[in-house]
Amino acid sequence: MDQKGQTGMGAKGGGARVHPLPPRPRPPTDRLNRPLRDLRLSVTDRCNFRCPYCMPRERYHEQYRFLRSGERLSFEELVRLTRAFVPLGVVKLRITGGEPLVRAGLPDLIGDLSGLPGIEDIALTTNGVLLAQHAAALRAAGLKRVTVSLDSLDPEVFAVMAGGFAQLDEVLAGIEAARHAGLSPIKINAVVQRGLNDHSALDLLEHFRGSGAIVRFIEYMDVGNRNDWNRERVVPSHELYERVHARWPLTPLEPAYRGEVARRYAFQDGAGEVGFISSVTQPFCGDCSRARLSSDGKLHTCLFAATGVDLRGPLRAGASDAELSALIRAVWERRMDRYSELRDELRARGVQHVEMNYLGG
Ligand code: GTP
Ligand code: 5AD
Ligand code: SF4
Ligand code: SF4
Repeated sequence: MDQKGQTGMGAKGGGARVHPLPPRPRPPTDRLNRPLRDLRLSVTDRCNFRCPYCMPRERYHEQYRFLRSGERLSFEELVRLTRAFVPLGVVKLRITGGEPLVRAGLPDLIGDLSGLPGIEDIALTTNGVLLAQHAAALRAAGLKRVTVSLDSLDPEVFAVMAGGFAQLDEVLAGIEAARHAGLSPIKINAVVQRGLNDHSALDLLEHFRGSGAIVRFIEYMDVGNRNDWNRERVVPSHELYERVHARWPLTPLEPAYRGEVARRYAFQDGAGEVGFISSVTQPFCGDCSRARLSSDGKLHTCLFAATGVDLRGPLRAGASDAELSALIRAVWERRMDRYSELRDELRARGVQHVEMNYLGG
């Protein structure tokens, strides 16, 4: 490009000065040189399950004070904030909760978000129980794919893990409806806990192998403050990998994108793939490009953060998109989080985390 023509600096002879457009600032990187690519939007802190590791019934009872509707971001506000993230590098959105499908009208939000220029991928994480009801409308609104949390196919174990709030059949019907609606790929996230569902983990593969759905086993993490985590309850991915590989030989796959959380393997017999998410034994903070927005508009730069930065206040006070982007940029540029790499040290110090139902997974 002609530098003189662009800036007008070298123009001679009194012609009209051409004023340059301000250069577009480069997308930010954090203090560990990580870009911002992925925004996870929690749309509600409510859920229709009571998984003991996330929302134990004793605590999340009828009197529990969830966010009030005026505290939550409206869909319009969520879209405004998301728009402010896009110039900073965000290309991927994940809608989480709590359980996102308990929020009325969710397809409308998906429709608005999928219309944003620059967004390449939108996914939804759900417990699946309302999916049969909403899958077609979500697909019609522009959602491409869905991730269903399902820890066990054993109805009794499932009942314990969901806090007794749903039937396994409803979740399986939700997965079928998602397939029917053309949501693809469908991923199944299973958190594995020793002594609870590890013995039946391979049943999930037996069931979903060859169906197109991708099972991903997640190491049990110390998210939130009340899930009574200890290392004995973690089943290291390598252990599970050995069990799977002995039954259905596996071949490693290349990551689909930089910073992918799951290590992926293909079944050698062609029945699809399986993933392992090993944030305890093989932390992936080095490539973590994820920002998280809670449903009351606080920006968190780590799943294990203690606090977030309020974006709702500035938004409601009339900040422009550019001002919101500048605020988010400043937060990202000072980010240093790498909790999973420092877990033992930080746990020893007794740091508190925000809760999983508030921030999403
Ligand atoms: P794809 O886009 O489908 O590859 O998935 P994703 O990277 O968006 O992953 P997903 O939201 O399905 O994450 C699966 C699980 O991995 C979550 O429920 C968490 O348990 C864990 N996880 C995801 N992101 C992070 C992260 O940034 N840190 C840690 N420690 N765990 C994470
Ligand atoms: N460890 C790992 N994953 C968890 N999730 C919830 N709690 C934990 C935990 N302690 C996962 C759920 C779901 C997503 C929202 O987060 O299984 O897939
Ligand atoms: Fe609900 Fe998911 Fe938490 Fe279970 S893990 S209580 S389904 S938000
Ligand atoms: Fe990212 Fe925090 Fe998870 Fe590390 S622990 S991968 S920094 S969210």
